[in-house]
Amino acid sequence: MSPHIVTETNDRVARIEIARLDKKNALTLEMYQALADALGAAEGDAQVRAVLIHGTSDCFCSGNDLKDFLERPPHGDASPTWRFLRAVSGARKPLVAAVGGPAVGIGTTMLLHCDLVYAAPNARFQLPFVPLGLVPEAASSLLLPMIAGYQRAAELLLLGQPFGSAKALAAGFVTEVIPESDLLEYARDAALGLAALPPASVRLTKQLMKARHAEAVAAQIELEGGHFRERLGSPEAKEAMTAFFEKRKPDFSKFS
Ligand code: COA
Repeated sequence: MSPHIVTETNDRVARIEIARLDKKNALTLEMYQALADALGAAEGDAQVRAVLIHGTSDCFCSGNDLKDFLERPPHGDASPTWRFLRAVSGARKPLVAAVGGPAVGIGTTMLLHCDLVYAAPNARFQLPFVPLGLVPEAASSLLLPMIAGYQRAAELLLLGQPFGSAKALAAGFVTEVIPESDLLEYARDAALGLAALPPASVRLTKQLMKARHAEAVAAQIELEGGHFRERLGSPEAKEAMTAFFEKRKPDFSKFS
């Protein structure tokens, strides 16, 4: 269990809150474990018909904890990180996300597996895998080109710069932009709406929409995972992450 993942089920909606605001909701291994457990519990609870994932209206998730990446990198398929990726990508019940403020790394890639994604105008998405010396994860190297088109995905994944809600909406992985003051309530209403529908129809419809790519998504998560773990030990990644904590620009000029 992690105190930074808060869960509660009400009115057939399982709410999963990321709550580590002093570190901008960066995810530690314990938080991945708790997220995977919470998704597993929601899947197994017949009372739950929809899952709502959120932070606050001005902080969703700043991605993997970079200190963890340096000191306790995820090893192998059994690590909490990959357990979470499998849980979010394989969820049979609908997932709703409410995104405000930073949504970095996994804070963005998990959204590619959600069914309804509501973002506030203050949302700041970023896929900084290349600038961090890493490679994309969560099958984002497959899903983002599919959803957004190759060139749009290439800009977001190769340059890895932050972008706003309008661009995320145009890229196709945000359902709707909702004012910050209404974001959480709007997303909760959407989850309640899903929870009120015939549950088997909802699950089957999601399954039908995802079936065609399910195997490819699982295979891409594995493929990316191998490269990702190798890259985490690379001098490029060490330079990028050390520079973040030293609050300086990384210097990649010495690498070939
Ligand atoms: N891992 C570990 N610590 C993180 C973090 C992360 N991913 N993101 C933020 N933090 C910490 C900062 O180190 C800082 O800690 P401190 O107060 O002890 O110095 C605190 O959270 C606040 O972050 P700060 O950078 O001051 O906030 P900001 O509002 O200026 O910027 C972000 C917010 C999210 C844009 C910025 O923190 C950021 O780029 N974080 C790294 C994101 C990242 O690369 N994630 C990995 C993706 S694979």
